[in-house]
Amino acid sequence: MERIVINGGHPLRGTVRVSGAKNSSLAVMVAACLAPDVSVLENVPHCQDVLTLSEILQGLGVRIDFAGGRMVIDARELRGHRPAYDLVRRMRASFYTAGLLLGRLGRAEVPLPGGCSIGSRPVDFHMRGFAALGAEVTTEHGYMKATLGRRTRLRATQFYVPRSSVGTTINLMMAASLARGTTRLQNAAREPEVVDTAVFLNLMGARVRGAGTDTITIQGVPALHGAQYAIIPDRIEAGTYLLCGVATGGDVQVAGLIPEHLQALLAKLAEAGAEILVEPDGVRVRVTGELSGVDVDTAPYPGFATDLHPPLVAALTRARGVSTVRETIYESRFGYVDELRRLGADIRLDGDTVHVHGVPTLTGAPVEALDIRAGAAVVIGGLAATGTTEVSGIENIDRGYEGMVAKLRGLGAQVFRVGGEVALEVV
Ligand code: EPU
Repeated sequence: MERIVINGGHPLRGTVRVSGAKNSSLAVMVAACLAPDVSVLENVPHCQDVLTLSEILQGLGVRIDFAGGRMVIDARELRGHRPAYDLVRRMRASFYTAGLLLGRLGRAEVPLPGGCSIGSRPVDFHMRGFAALGAEVTTEHGYMKATLGRRTRLRATQFYVPRSSVGTTINLMMAASLARGTTRLQNAAREPEVVDTAVFLNLMGARVRGAGTDTITIQGVPALHGAQYAIIPDRIEAGTYLLCGVATGGDVQVAGLIPEHLQALLAKLAEAGAEILVEPDGVRVRVTGELSGVDVDTAPYPGFATDLHPPLVAALTRARGVSTVRETIYESRFGYVDELRRLGADIRLDGDTVHVHGVPTLTGAPVEALDIRAGAAVVIGGLAATGTTEVSGIENIDRGYEGMVAKLRGLGAQVFRVGGEVALEVV
């Protein structure tokens, strides 16, 4: 199996350019298929989740050409209403096809994506939303089946989005764009990826207002058309590289990011003692002295992103004193803790809270990337640790990070892929 090998313990220095946002791309790719037309997306990252979703959409009759970050989506022939189980189960965002198929074809049979290693992640909120939009929704043999019954279109509704769910907000925004009447989503997610999807939908002719606040209204239209759009920069990827700089006591500029999307992280890094410089084309982080521990609670945007929790903990393993990170979104996003312990980190888990006692040094060891962000955490740990760290399970890193090894090498890291193809690093 392919692995990433890191010879760590060296400060990273230099500039790395952020890729387009994976989680925006996944939503926008599906949104593009709401129109029987051609759309062009720019700045789409070449990562495995994007490729898997492309395969799912192609299986439904959509034509996709993807090269050099530019994706052409021709959804004129969308006809299937039952995406392939083997692909859907690999990633939760594939459930966006439910909103697409219900909105455009009036019928969706989508496998339940099931749980994953960061906690039980049901789709009950999505299904309640579809039912509120007038669909008849059942689950049978592992599939969610939704139809319009005798209706020809979904009907508008008022829906309170439980737990400000990102995926539910996006799925309902897409389906409601083609519903009859004006839908109002309350307690909607405010994440930048929601806003990106809404902006794209509006370019397609939708009437979505209020994205970025907790109340979104969607005035349904009978049909949408294709559009051209550039995906926003990936705030989680950007945060990951900033944390690589912090963890190694380095000096790293992440170019092309939107600083407002990372306010919670930047504030915590400054509190920990890192120097943050917001520059015209990005953010630079520099560590000259010792870091001190900080306390963080994850929260929906604009709070501290849960996806930056494991990378942050990895970067705090050598900070003076004690840091605490309380996870409020997922009940079991803690698998990475044992992996960081292999590197010598002193971490105690107490319910939903991780207590990190700073240690003077980490030492390289074999570790596993258990999911996308747990993978980022062990890479950060390996970069900070002296000696050699060998990361297995790197298909999880490839799911969400475009060319991570090449980007780290650009910052001077001694990091290599061994034992397999390098296709995903060649972008
Ligand atoms: N939830 C339910 N039922 C539902 C939907 C959500 O119980 O029907 C729960 C989830 O289990 C979770 C909470 O509600 O505990 C919030 O989940 P949300 O729906 O907001 O998450 P998501 O849309 O499934 C997206 C990102 C995740 C990111 C979360 C939170 C995509 C494709 N995924 O997931 O990203 O952690 O929002 O910000 O956009 C990643 O990129 O590594 C990743 C996991």
